[in-house]
Amino acid sequence: MKILLLGKNGQVGWELQRSLAPLGELIALDRAGKDGLCGDLTDLEGLRRTISIVKPNIIINAAAYTAVDNAENDKVNTNIVNAQAPRVLAEEALKVGAWLVHYSTDYVFDGSGNNAWKEKDEPNPLNEYGRSKLEGERAIENSGCKYLIFRTSWVFGSRGKNFAKTMLQLASSRQVLSVINDQIGAPTSAALIADCTAHAVRQAFSNPNLSGIYHLVASGQTTWYEYTKFIINQAQALGKDLVTVEIKPITTAEYPTPAVRPHNSRLNTTKFCNSFGLFLPEWQQGVSRMLYDTINN
Ligand SMILES: NC(=O)c1ccc[n+]([C@@H]2O[C@H](COP(=O)([O-])OP(=O)(O)OC[C@H]3O[C@@H](n4cnc5c(N)ncnc54)[C@H](OP(=O)(O)O)[C@@H]3O)[C@@H](O)[C@H]2O)c1
Repeated sequence: MKILLLGKNGQVGWELQRSLAPLGELIALDRAGKDGLCGDLTDLEGLRRTISIVKPNIIINAAAYTAVDNAENDKVNTNIVNAQAPRVLAEEALKVGAWLVHYSTDYVFDGSGNNAWKEKDEPNPLNEYGRSKLEGERAIENSGCKYLIFRTSWVFGSRGKNFAKTMLQLASSRQVLSVINDQIGAPTSAALIADCTAHAVRQAFSNPNLSGIYHLVASGQTTWYEYTKFIINQAQALGKDLVTVEIKPITTAEYPTPAVRPHNSRLNTTKFCNSFGLFLPEWQQGVSRMLYDTINN
């Protein structure tokens, strides 16, 4: 099996380099590309050329424009990376008969209600990032290629920037942290996403009926505030010296950001678990591992 991985150095891309390695020949690219192959998602012709040269069995796109607030004022680039590039990848996947694996987000939903969103629920993104990711999903769905789209949320990993690491840094210098307590979701480790991707890809490769959109997040739910309390407690238990003495819950309205965020980011993972026969551990497990790795290195 020949796999082309794009975005190899993002949080998920980094873990995919590990989890995909046993599946076959892995050609992993970052934005700079290598050996004449293009990994830059803004170079649409370069992507087409690369796929026609490599002729992969599976294309895995872990690259994306993920700066949610910047996206509000950078619509053109956001759209090229998150919508036009996935469309091109899907068209080229169809030509060479490859599967396309792609990641999307809880931000395709508007966060209303209290139920966990199912794959068939109507998307209604609140911000540019969400709109561009939804356009990317639809381009893939309409392309006719075989695909797996995994919608995930609140991603963290040992490599790269994320909320957990930011909180750990702030807790080293601030006595009081104010954290949003009215957005609910599931922190999901890049390692879990990568491992589940490798298992799912193996099954899908021999069963085209598995082509589709899936929600892939860790089990359980929390708010950013409760998540922060967990991070601080765990870090202190691991011997990390922190100065924070108080964590204050605040509302989304008290912390305005350029991009509007959904309140309810719960994703229902029943379809993923049933289709692939896989189990999704509670979010705390991945966070504890990441903190251990971060603090002990
Ligand atoms: N992070 C989250 O909380 C979250 C939540 C829901 C869904 N997702 C989705 O999950 C997937 C993986 O996210 P992640 O957390 O691993 O993201 P990440 O850590 O921000 O990594 C994104 C990667 O994309 C690369 N990239 C950006 N623009 C590019 C371009 N024009 N050409 C090539 N590479 C480019 C970045 O490279 P540079 O370092 O060179 O910029 C980076 O390596 C994405 O599809 C994302 O939308 C993420």
